[in-house]
Amino acid sequence: MRSSIIASLLSAVTVVYGYANPMACSGECGNAHDPALIRRDDGKYYRFSTGNKISIHTAPSITGPWTYKGAAIPNGSKINLKGKDDLWAPDVTKVGNTYYLYYSVSSFGSQDSAIGVATSTNLDTWTDLGATGIASKAGKNYNAIDPALYWDGSKFVMSFGSFWGDLFSTNMQNPPVKAAAGAAAIGIAFKPEGEHAQEGAFIAKNGNYHYLFFSFGKCCHFDQNRPAKGQEYKIQVCRSTSATGGFVDKAGKKCTEGGGTTVLESHGFVYGPGGQGVYYDPKLGPVLYYHYVDTRIGYADGQKKFGINQINFSSGWPVV
Ligand SMILES: *[C@@H]1O[C@H](CO)[C@@H](O)[C@H](O)[C@H]1NC(C)=O
Ligand SMILES: *[C@@H]1O[C@H](CO)[C@@H](O)[C@H](O)[C@H]1NC(C)=O
Repeated sequence: MRSSIIASLLSAVTVVYGYANPMACSGECGNAHDPALIRRDDGKYYRFSTGNKISIHTAPSITGPWTYKGAAIPNGSKINLKGKDDLWAPDVTKVGNTYYLYYSVSSFGSQDSAIGVATSTNLDTWTDLGATGIASKAGKNYNAIDPALYWDGSKFVMSFGSFWGDLFSTNMQNPPVKAAAGAAAIGIAFKPEGEHAQEGAFIAKNGNYHYLFFSFGKCCHFDQNRPAKGQEYKIQVCRSTSATGGFVDKAGKKCTEGGGTTVLESHGFVYGPGGQGVYYDPKLGPVLYYHYVDTRIGYADGQKKFGINQINFSSGWPVV
């Protein structure tokens, strides 16, 4: 009797200090690699994800049921690079009455990459505008994929990058369809070790800080080749009072020197969470959305599931 009480107290402690499971998800919760989430003013939720010219799913509530609606850019990108009929890692933002959908044109392991943009007034049909001017080739110290737009209070900033020199930011014009004239790509985070496996930057504001979320580790192909425990994707964060530099982790370590505080990592049936973003939901407040392997289902990239957790910022650092 006593030992079962102790066991249940211990499991309660585990729940308090561990990671919450993803919120419920119904309908099509797979096909969710590198998701982007937004709610239309009529309450309908939209989810965009990697591949198939950016898949669109919609749902009447944030927990579903999700339904596949087709490709956002059915004719492929105007950007003439390998990958223009695939398209990765979408980011969606509303500015005024227009939605901006940023996407990556690239191919696995290549630096021949560019960030494109499409616009819409309803989230259903999109007009591809092609190149934003943020691009890379072999020899650059970055890979121009994984875009995320951010309004820092006075200007639009685009964060991007994957491996090589890791995460960068560039100032954007307003409206945010092109990089600002002469804007440089400034390094904002770097992992010095190994392959510099850091990507998926996403900046979100809370209080006086700009929080830089990113994915650290190996993202993909877990069905073929699973890395050593702890080397798979996890979600980390740094913060700064500037959106364009000075990011440090909770221990004060510079994020240009390997810093990063873990927000979410493998736990229970959740494996390799990443490709994340933050959405300020009108009902739930800030939520972290991401993809993960549900180990009860399978490890293939096409089986990755859509996850959402509410974020608690009360300590000054995001806790899920
Ligand atoms: C795709 O291409 C077809 C044929 O050129 C054109 O009729 C159609 O409007 C295009 N669709 C979009 C969404 O641009
Ligand atoms: C947020 O976390 C703090 C502990 O850091 C806790 O006291 C508070 O109840 C949490 N808020 C919510 C809404 O869960």
